[in-house]
Amino acid sequence: MKRLLITGAAGGLGSAMRARLSGQAEILRLSDIADLGAAGPNEEVVTCDLGDAEAVMKLVEGCDGILHLGGVSVEDKFSKILNANLLGLFNLYEAARAHGHPRIIFASSNHVVGFYRQDQHIDVKAPMKPDGLYGVSKCFGEALASMYFDKFGQETAIVRIGSCFEKPLNHRMLSGWMSYDDFVSLVGCVFRAPMLGCPIIWGISDNDSKWWDNSHASYLGWRPKDNAERFRAELDATQERPAPTSAMAVYQGGKFVKDPIFPED
Ligand code: NAI
Repeated sequence: MKRLLITGAAGGLGSAMRARLSGQAEILRLSDIADLGAAGPNEEVVTCDLGDAEAVMKLVEGCDGILHLGGVSVEDKFSKILNANLLGLFNLYEAARAHGHPRIIFASSNHVVGFYRQDQHIDVKAPMKPDGLYGVSKCFGEALASMYFDKFGQETAIVRIGSCFEKPLNHRMLSGWMSYDDFVSLVGCVFRAPMLGCPIIWGISDNDSKWWDNSHASYLGWRPKDNAERFRAELDATQERPAPTSAMAVYQGGKFVKDPIFPED
């Protein structure tokens, strides 16, 4: 690929992917509203608010693929979610439509199904059960991606990320964790696939205690190699297991199910 756009490149996942994806494109175009530092040798750095349609139109021009990580990534005021995750996503898809339909990886979230219980093993056909306004914004994103595929042929990999950090940060993440290496290999599979369509993919490693199954997306050839289980002993030694009746132990979305709706100023 000539030019891969990464939005949200200054964020946690964006920084990790910036460091790991330089081999997957001749040029990485990195974008965020936050400071990205100086551009490296095969990098372009663009400051851009996803809510600014004109700026997003320019941002996408000349890109052959998009890893869309930008946006509000936790529960927040609706006005912030609205700008970044709803308007921002619409702007991105309109720009992709105007500029030759570069394939998109959309970072969705487990919080679209956060109100399922951890003892329910669901597939991608299960109705959404978002656990907050952030989760609702990801439901919107998934619906938008689906509509742009059916109406315009825009291909998207909708990746419902469980949690993607260097290692699982708590016991709940033993089920939904995805390693950076597994995410990198997923990105490669998505952009290399002869035919993508608009699949929903659970963004998880090959964890022993996973709740979700990716067999419907096996045509992509993605075979995650990590397993969160290797961190269980460390977690047991360093933190209390969540109480069996707590949200962290009951719901797939963990404590997000208990978050309030944040008031506007
Ligand atoms: P993050 O919060 O660290 O990074 C998001 C980036 O988006 C930030 O650098 C922020 O400045 C940027 N951003 C926010 N509003 C923006 C706007 N209006 N215009 C342009 N940029 C804007 O989040 P993280 O953890 O890196 O997650 C990346 C993506 O993956 C997010 O979409 C998040 O919802 C999704 N995700 C991440 C998970 C994880 O475990 N890291 C789990 C599930 C989903």
